[in-house]
Amino acid sequence: MALRRVGRPRTTGSRSEQQLMSKILDGSVTVGVVGLGYVGLPLALEFAKEGIRTIGIDVSAEKVKSLSAGRNYIQDLNDDEIRYVVKEKKTLTATLDFGACAACDVIYVCVPTPFTPNKDPDISHIVHATEGVAAHLRKGQLVILKSTTFPGTTEKYVKPILDRVGLACGKDYFLAFSPERIDPGNQVWTTKNTPVVVGGVSAACTDLAIAINRRIIAEVVPVSTPAVAEMEKLLENIFRSVNIALVNELAQLCDRIGVNIWEVVEAAKTKPFGFMPFYPGPGIGGHCILIDPYYLSWAAREVDFVTNFITLAAEVNESMPFYVRSMIEREIARQPVTLKSAKVLLLGMAFKKDVDDLRHSPALKVAELLVEDGIENISYFDPYIPSVRVHDRTLTSRKNLTPAFVKRHDVVVITTDHSTFDVDMICQNAKVVIDTRNATKNVKGPHRNIVLLGDGK
Ligand SMILES: NC(=O)c1ccc[n+]([C@@H]2O[C@H](COP(=O)([O-])OP(=O)(O)OC[C@H]3O[C@@H](n4cnc5c(N)ncnc54)[C@H](O)[C@@H]3O)[C@@H](O)[C@H]2O)c1
Repeated sequence: MALRRVGRPRTTGSRSEQQLMSKILDGSVTVGVVGLGYVGLPLALEFAKEGIRTIGIDVSAEKVKSLSAGRNYIQDLNDDEIRYVVKEKKTLTATLDFGACAACDVIYVCVPTPFTPNKDPDISHIVHATEGVAAHLRKGQLVILKSTTFPGTTEKYVKPILDRVGLACGKDYFLAFSPERIDPGNQVWTTKNTPVVVGGVSAACTDLAIAINRRIIAEVVPVSTPAVAEMEKLLENIFRSVNIALVNELAQLCDRIGVNIWEVVEAAKTKPFGFMPFYPGPGIGGHCILIDPYYLSWAAREVDFVTNFITLAAEVNESMPFYVRSMIEREIARQPVTLKSAKVLLLGMAFKKDVDDLRHSPALKVAELLVEDGIENISYFDPYIPSVRVHDRTLTSRKNLTPAFVKRHDVVVITTDHSTFDVDMICQNAKVVIDTRNATKNVKGPHRNIVLLGDGK
């Protein structure tokens, strides 16, 4: 699709469109962000830093209270920047009251899109947030949905709720989908320098969505419809899910044939074109890669289509915690202890390296499986996750990881490879280390006590 002209008011546009475009371009626009989590708060911060009046709306009294006091609660964000925009610059405020939407010209919706226990999409947060916005919808507002969801959500679910107000979409109010690409923990690619895609319900909706995103993001890529933007986001995440599943399957094969998958990937990576490295692990987690493929599989079923590839990838990835459980229990069986008396130490509970996000963490799944098998002595250490609920018990992280504590366990498992882990110390003191992340690759000296996932030994 050819890129359309953007950045100045369309002469053919409605009065509402032209007025909103002028406000966006002269900076007098007020931005609302509904949902102040891992996606919403960084977005709100970027606008507030640009001097744009920004209002965050959330259903969590705790988050609103914290933000109103200038206190940051998202690991990646800079505490001083949050305090500065709230307390000194006073460009960011937070509220529980959807009534604040009335004062906003642009409203981003960044609420969760989880799945149900049966892994069907749960878009109730989107519906609830849209109803909150609709209650205060007025002429000249632009609503941008950012939550990851199945194609058709913006036009078939969000638009009808907003249309009930009686305003014309594309003329009186405007609606677009613009997926989020934030990668928590990534120091290189941030909200500001990662291109975003936008798909508006009409050309006017797209132009306005491009213009507001351009206030804080260097590159904005328009597509022809919201559904293209919704599907594009799912493609990004399913691409990861499928490739991780492939390498997870190959890791299990390598374990059988005695080849080191990590060495295989490093070698393949030297091909300068047509290959992108993915690495095996104990499974996938977080709020995106695990959930999003199910959104598309569900939508596909509605049109009698079976997404075999996606389903197979999910099956392989979700089998990995079970595979790690069998590795742990095999190592226990080699020692003079029973499952009941074995002491297992899990290192890293977050779903990935250097983040404090526990959602759908494979490490947590491993802990649950061990408890189900009657392993009673499970400890863990994760500097970012103070405590976790494993079935009916609460486990608390060790404050520090000492050699004596490592020594005390029969099996030590590196479930998440946080950069702060002293892997040399761990290997020197553990009876056996099961490494599911290749965290031990740079350990000095021969260590016969390391069992690496996918190295075939
Ligand atoms: N976390 C990521 O790295 C990431 C990356 C890309 C896309 N996404 C997508 O972005 C969306 C948000 O994810 P997140 O990680 O920010 O979730 P989150 O749980 O961190 O934050 C969501 C926020 O929305 C609030 N909320 C829930 N229902 C609400 C309602 N009805 N009205 C107002 N606020 C409400 C919650 O209290 C919470 O503060 C999801 O669709 C997710 O798939 C997330």
